[in-house]
Amino acid sequence: MFRILITDKLGDAGLQRLEEAEDAAYEMNTDLSREELLEVIPGYDALIVRSGTKVDAGVLEAGERLQVVGRAGIGVDNIDVRAATRRGIVVMNTPHANAVATAEQTMTLMLALSRHTAPAHASLKAGEWRRSDFVGVELYDKILGIIGFGRIGRLVAQRAQAFGMDVLAYDPYVPEEVGQEMGVSLVPLEELLPQADYLTLHSVVTPETEKMINAGTIAQMKEGVRLVNVARGKLIDEQALADALQSGAVAGAAVDVYSQEPPQDNPMLQAPKVLHTPHLGASTIEAQRAVATEIVAQVLDALRGGGFRNALNMPFPAGPEVAAARPFMELGEKMGALLDALAPDSIRQVEVTVEGDQADDLVRPVAAAVLKGILQRSLSVPVNDINAHLLAEDRDITVSQTAGLAPADYPTLVSSRARWEGGQHTLTGALFGDGRPRIVQIDDAQVNASPEGTVLIIRSDDTPDVLGQVGTVFAAYDVGIAAWHMERKEPGKEAFSFVNLDGVPPEGLLQALEKIPAVTALNVAAL
Ligand code: MLT
Repeated sequence: MFRILITDKLGDAGLQRLEEAEDAAYEMNTDLSREELLEVIPGYDALIVRSGTKVDAGVLEAGERLQVVGRAGIGVDNIDVRAATRRGIVVMNTPHANAVATAEQTMTLMLALSRHTAPAHASLKAGEWRRSDFVGVELYDKILGIIGFGRIGRLVAQRAQAFGMDVLAYDPYVPEEVGQEMGVSLVPLEELLPQADYLTLHSVVTPETEKMINAGTIAQMKEGVRLVNVARGKLIDEQALADALQSGAVAGAAVDVYSQEPPQDNPMLQAPKVLHTPHLGASTIEAQRAVATEIVAQVLDALRGGGFRNALNMPFPAGPEVAAARPFMELGEKMGALLDALAPDSIRQVEVTVEGDQADDLVRPVAAAVLKGILQRSLSVPVNDINAHLLAEDRDITVSQTAGLAPADYPTLVSSRARWEGGQHTLTGALFGDGRPRIVQIDDAQVNASPEGTVLIIRSDDTPDVLGQVGTVFAAYDVGIAAWHMERKEPGKEAFSFVNLDGVPPEGLLQALEKIPAVTALNVAAL
């Protein structure tokens, strides 16, 4: 039974889905202090949050059996994604579910700011009738500058165009063609700022974007610009914006988000011409229903091993199509474990090549699996597809991955080379017709070995009596042999045996084999 903890309010539709799941039990507790969260989290397989719970490295560390953190919404700035990755915990969000709600909130605020809706309402309620004090401006024929042209930015562009606005956008990660198709010019920030009558922010907070609206960028803006922020408060230097509102350089601002929420001692609260809302971008019935049902479905799928939709920290796209890669990942993991067993020293470099059918799709999942195979024996933390690359990086292992054209003899071939100080080994593997993985080459030698169970690799001089001597030792230790594959490059040179044992080698077996003069190296791998 999977145990799921929900620590921020989640829509009933999502809870209903969890109640229907026969393999999952959930608890919703939205009042937990950090200490209480640390205390209870070890008992859960998944944690579902919105923006209210801070999922920091300590919480992730305490979550001994935590496999998934699901964010019902888009922004994951309350989750330490890198710490989750290091722990092998998948982090997923629902990037589509509340995009329309957020785009509509942007338009709501842009219009309300332009027409003084909030102060006019307050004035009328106070018994006044001051029509001439609330003369507004139109969106029509104005230039809207969109900073961050992802899903929400594009929805805002469509809506603004319907109001007759000309739209410019700035997003260093979006190609120009995307804008062209929508009639939006993607321009550098320094071109956008002096032209825009309205600015709206739709970026995530990163070290590059934090406080990107500051005294310097405000100085580049058109005099009398109006600014809307429904993204994140930390995108703005709030003191600088408050000063610009005071001086009139900025004619008005609508803010739904704050650097600290709820805002306290925030200069924007005292600034004139500001329309405030309490982080309501995603707060529609439709969006809350959608984020709740989507995150529950995604978290259940991930726990059941059925796919990792909208995972933010998988090293490869991980929708349901990942099922096709699984047998190759199994092969890659076994190759990694064999390389780890064969390497006499710490592996410093790993090269993974996939050639043939779907090589482009397979190479990243297979590379993660090879690293997992290499690392898992020597590390005390569990290694999985999510943390394998980061753990390799922590250990200064350089990794390269290459997709190649179809090889001659197999539809798809996986090769993996590991180098260490002074040496290297290369394994090549394939899936045979029965779907089982096979090792087909070890360094220069062609083999047909099954990487299953306990494997003993024996390197020896190619003397006539070595097979008999090794067999005698196996018999003496009552060792069952499932398969024994022997290869040599040329007669009289080095030979090696790939032996599938029936179980783990009994005490003393390896020492007895080492005493055979022709035996030069022994390696055992549990696959
Ligand atoms: C989001 O990131 O999804 C929105 O800001 C709404 C929220 O924080 O829940």
